[in-house]
Amino acid sequence: MKREFVAPGPALATQKTMDADAAGIAEAARVIGAGGIVAFPTETVYGLAGDATSDAAVARIYAAKARPEFNPLITHVASLDAAREQGVFPAEALHLAKLFWPGPLTLVVPPAPGATVCAAARAGRQTIALRVPIHPVALALISAAGRPLAAPSANRSGQVSPVTAAHVAQDLSGAIDLILDGGRCSVGLESTVIAYLEGPPLLLRPGGIARADIEAVLGHALADSAGTTTLHSPGMLHSHYAPRAKLRLDATELAEGEAGLDFGGIFGARKNVLDLSARRDLAEAAANLFSFLHDLDALGLPCIAVAPIPRDGLGEAINDRLTRAAAPRERGDAGFKS
Ligand code: TXA
Ligand code: MG
Repeated sequence: MKREFVAPGPALATQKTMDADAAGIAEAARVIGAGGIVAFPTETVYGLAGDATSDAAVARIYAAKARPEFNPLITHVASLDAAREQGVFPAEALHLAKLFWPGPLTLVVPPAPGATVCAAARAGRQTIALRVPIHPVALALISAAGRPLAAPSANRSGQVSPVTAAHVAQDLSGAIDLILDGGRCSVGLESTVIAYLEGPPLLLRPGGIARADIEAVLGHALADSAGTTTLHSPGMLHSHYAPRAKLRLDATELAEGEAGLDFGGIFGARKNVLDLSARRDLAEAAANLFSFLHDLDALGLPCIAVAPIPRDGLGEAINDRLTRAAAPRERGDAGFKS
């Protein structure tokens, strides 16, 4: 079921944007301490943060995003020690955390007995998603707020994720208390999400760390969430990251009146075309993906043709996002979004 957009409560200021300097971070921490919600930069995408220990703050995040309440949020903490206060890490998960944190990896584990993260942030589940970001503003904000921060991507549910403060303002203006502007996100794709629950570890969402890099340190393959139910992966089904324009994937040429999202220059130098990476670099393509989707969508053309993109490395996550962006909209399953 999709919830209607809800205006912010009267208790807090209407949304403003501040530079992510010391004054901005202090103000953001104050707003979060007062139960408010703040968009902030991470290395992956902008997040929408609130006090993860407060049901009321978390409810405001869900309302601002019009996010279905059954889709749990990632809790952001500043260190592995802080993560272990909230979650129980099996040995292998601990190994990954030590190698990849801080960074674009989220681990889903059972909650620790003394966990303070509220049930609403976990969508009532007996699991918790934890991440230590590497962006200095994100780390400074978590420390200044002095509590774990629940933070989904700072977009309305189902929209393209934001990688600049301007993207956040376009999508959530008036619904949140503050935007911290820390420039463009460097990775450009959300974190890789891996679940350590019963059974083998499950890749719930390909993301900013390539599957192969994780499998190389584990010495075994990650199981796929494809075929598992929403029980495991509530945010990962169907239409998502949807621009207004339709997407036509694996296009080898542009049709009349289409915008183009190119890779490796196959469309040639044409009007209304942006090349994710002329030199076919997947990290560069990932960093440009959401930003270029925002820009091409703003042209107002009915269709964006997308050049084929290899599926190895970060190409898995790029193709995952593009496939979701291209999926049919407004189906009965419109709730499965983050
Ligand atoms: O890079 C990121 O991960 C960004 C930045 C802001 O940290 N955050 C982000 O959050 O992408 P969101 O809410 O847009 O996506 C979180 C994903 C969703 O697919 C959600 O279903 C899944 O993580 N998730 C969260 N908690 C979970 C849990 N307990 N079990 C299974 N999946 C969970
Ligand atoms: Mg999201």
